[in-house]
Amino acid sequence: MGVDFKQLAGVGRGRLDRRIFVEDAIYRMELEKIFAKCWLFLCHESQIPKPFDYFTTYMGADPVIVTRKEDGSIGCYLNMCRHRGNRVCRGDAGNAKSFVCPFHGWSYSIDGSLNHVPGHQEVYYGELDIDSHGLVPVAQIDSYKGLVFATFDANAPSLLEYLGDMAWYLDMFLDRRERGIEFCSGTHKWRIKCNWKFPADNFVGDTYHGLVSHISAWKAGFEGTPRRKVDYGYQGYQINPGNGHGLGALWTETPERFVDSALPELQQYEAARLKEAEARLGPVRAWKIAGIHGTIFPNLSLLFQAGAIRVWHPIAPNVTEAWSWGFVDKDAPQDFKDEMRRHVTHRHSTSGTWEADDVDNWVQSTNASYGHVAQRYEQNLQMGQGHEATHPELRGTVGQIQSEINQRGFYQRWAELLAEGQPGAM
Ligand code: FES
Ligand SMILES: [Fe+2]
Repeated sequence: MGVDFKQLAGVGRGRLDRRIFVEDAIYRMELEKIFAKCWLFLCHESQIPKPFDYFTTYMGADPVIVTRKEDGSIGCYLNMCRHRGNRVCRGDAGNAKSFVCPFHGWSYSIDGSLNHVPGHQEVYYGELDIDSHGLVPVAQIDSYKGLVFATFDANAPSLLEYLGDMAWYLDMFLDRRERGIEFCSGTHKWRIKCNWKFPADNFVGDTYHGLVSHISAWKAGFEGTPRRKVDYGYQGYQINPGNGHGLGALWTETPERFVDSALPELQQYEAARLKEAEARLGPVRAWKIAGIHGTIFPNLSLLFQAGAIRVWHPIAPNVTEAWSWGFVDKDAPQDFKDEMRRHVTHRHSTSGTWEADDVDNWVQSTNASYGHVAQRYEQNLQMGQGHEATHPELRGTVGQIQSEINQRGFYQRWAELLAEGQPGAM
């Protein structure tokens, strides 16, 4: 397909062609060049703690099973029977010695190998090559401080290299305390009639929408909503650490202001863990900045202090399946863990006061992209363009908190990956 992805993504122009949100051919290329190549988030290690535990999810639009093998290592396989393609595992999560396909009964071990074929002697004359019909494994699997990722690309760089400087920022929530984090809620799942890039881009760099889209929740002082002064001048940065990742953070500068920036019901705990966090991370990541939102390219997003993490599964060009969890320090007291679980449910996910505000924006923006005339007019991503800078205490490139620097970085990476292999690729 002779498409100029750099042009579509408006690289260097701060523009975006609306067709990237609705065209089927572009979606199919994303599955090939992005979702079959990038490191994708699978689950947290705390979700599969014991041998034979499993968790089913997607990598792109491909359903996969993540397993804790007998030796304690983690495996990940396409959830697709090698006979006629049925899903071999129908559960969301559990503990199983083997996966028996419900169609004709081929059975697979926790390590993906095919271990039984009904009638192997009688109907296959003993000739079916059992060894070459195991579940299709991912090419590489690795974890970063408990977050498990995999890629279908054997030539992909290591996970650490892929995360790059984003890992330094991820430590702000993964590594504040000795034993790291755990997930404190079940998996909340819902489908949104929008393109997957809208939520990923919203989380990578859009602090700007908060003051309008969430104004009612904000002004009403809903439970779990900071009663911060509402204006466009508060201090902070959009941080672009490279590789399409990005985060937005307040510049809080002192421990007192860091604690004060947290949601009211979380402030006591933030204050209590500050010393330990500073010893582990240094002052910049412990309290000089307070992370708000972020995206790890392509589709893992998080709300730092709010304790929410989610994946945007690209089911179709205009269908995204959101999977969301709450997270909390493993060493936190139980009543705080309970508070975080309630908080994530009340503020985010399907029943959240903030979630519905966002979902409607993404649906409307996707729908508008279908219009024939609308497609003649590009989206604008020029906020803060030409004002990018470096910061002596931060990694990557930064813009002020209201800036579209990170969306530009996200779509630049998107264009680079889609163009890979094209003649004259970037
Ligand atoms: S499709 Fe799985 S056993 Fe036939
Ligand atoms: Fe939002």
